[in-house]
Amino acid sequence: MTDAKEPLESVAESKDLADSILASQGRIDPDRPVSIVIFGATGDLAKRKLLPALYALRCEGFLPERFSLIGNSRSERSDDVFRDEMKNAVGEHSRLGKLDEELWSGFAQNMHYVQGALEDPETFQRIREKLEAVEADAKDNSIRLYYLAIPPTSFPEALRNIASSGLSQRETPERVRIIVEKPFGEDLESARVLNQQVHSAFTETQIYRIDHYLGKETVQNILVFRLANGIFEPLWNRRYVDHVQITVAETLGVGRRGEYFDKAGVLRDIVQNHMLQLLCLVGMEVPIRFRAEHVRNEKVKVLMALNRLTEEDIRKSVVRGQYAEGDVDGERVNAYRYESDVDPHSKTETFAAFKCFVDNWRWAGVPFYLRAGKRLKTRSTEITITFKQPPLALFRAAHERLPDPNVLILQIQPEEGILLRVGSKKPGTKFSIDPVELAFHYQTSFDSAPPEAYERLLLDAIHGDSTLFAREDEVDYAWRFVDPILDAWRTTEHCPVHPYWSGSWGPDASDRIMERDGRAWRNEVPGTPRC
Ligand code: BG6
Repeated sequence: MTDAKEPLESVAESKDLADSILASQGRIDPDRPVSIVIFGATGDLAKRKLLPALYALRCEGFLPERFSLIGNSRSERSDDVFRDEMKNAVGEHSRLGKLDEELWSGFAQNMHYVQGALEDPETFQRIREKLEAVEADAKDNSIRLYYLAIPPTSFPEALRNIASSGLSQRETPERVRIIVEKPFGEDLESARVLNQQVHSAFTETQIYRIDHYLGKETVQNILVFRLANGIFEPLWNRRYVDHVQITVAETLGVGRRGEYFDKAGVLRDIVQNHMLQLLCLVGMEVPIRFRAEHVRNEKVKVLMALNRLTEEDIRKSVVRGQYAEGDVDGERVNAYRYESDVDPHSKTETFAAFKCFVDNWRWAGVPFYLRAGKRLKTRSTEITITFKQPPLALFRAAHERLPDPNVLILQIQPEEGILLRVGSKKPGTKFSIDPVELAFHYQTSFDSAPPEAYERLLLDAIHGDSTLFAREDEVDYAWRFVDPILDAWRTTEHCPVHPYWSGSWGPDASDRIMERDGRAWRNEVPGTPRC
């Protein structure tokens, strides 16, 4: 299904070893122009994420000298108006605070706008002319990226015209890349159709399917933590791990995205992509080398090993919920059905929780519990690995039961850090045991704040490193897991939508998945002292 070649290897094959060496050092040939064309350049994603990320890369010196940005959308505006709009967006959303006027004006000079509809082949001719103008003498030497920051319904048109205008063809194909935003399909079938469409213009090694979770520092740190520290990897298996929990809790509701979300639901919006990616990083085997294809080969094996849920499993171990009104962060908020652009009778889930297994040698019998929800009690994305308890309650005289198990908590947001909970003797004359936390926080351990996920991912795409992007078969297997749940929800009457109060931890039914197994969700508000 996939082209098994690695980008770096194929670059090497095309005798462009110098580039791959520079890329591995995070650099790029200073004479090589790099251009990014953003389709949907005046939309929310471009303004809130892409432009601030590119500006940060420019400020930190990561963009090559000859970097150009070409924005496209349907409405008419001059280069200057476009630059002003982008300047306001960066001013509002940049993590770097106040805009540096001098840096900005250098950056903005290489920013252009090409107006035109995606259905109109002329738009693409104009983009092509603009690219050739900014690349000047570089010919095939330049690197081009096309970013589809447009709704998936517009992909077919855009891809057809990119291909027919020759924008996807170069003498060195690796130097033209396409970045595709999620949602990548709405089920297995539509994802396959979409993959075919993208493949009609680009080969797999040119396609960068972005999942911004993979650009987050702590998400990348999952692999570093596991594989660069000798003490954890030996414990990372069914012999020592009791169970794994992955939580993506948000306090936000659907905001202005009611129309999109009401068709998607949390399973498509967050579980199929972000959460299954997290599961892959926790569950994967050690790749033989830290290169795109090796890492992605191991990730896809986790998805292949995920147990296919039967209708009975879904009835018993999958819960969907929808937020009712309630209080979040001290504010009264509306029920989901009263959000704008949401069907007042909607059955769309804003919460999902389930249990699954990775049926392979390493993880056989270890339950993975996943939950994601909007309008929950707190914003917290974390992975917890709960280890098995010691075999004997040695300190039973002072403690009637076994001490709490060791728990490793990988906190992804809002604060990025890693905690290890261990049992410690409570000061005093008895052998009482209390849990304490050994903690590492990014903010206090490192001087600089971690970069935004889009900064890392855009830079990787510029360098041609697809390690942190989803490959076609990953997307396919993720949908194969999610599809039966969507089908069951559509067709049976036995999977009710459980309402839950905004500001809670979701419906009680989700707690019951854990209680049946004698376990509980880790419901903790980050930053609240525990011990
Ligand atoms: C997006 C989803 O992919 O991720 C949103 O479409 C969700 O619904 C967001 O809110 C969460 O991202 P983050 O980085 O804020 O956790």
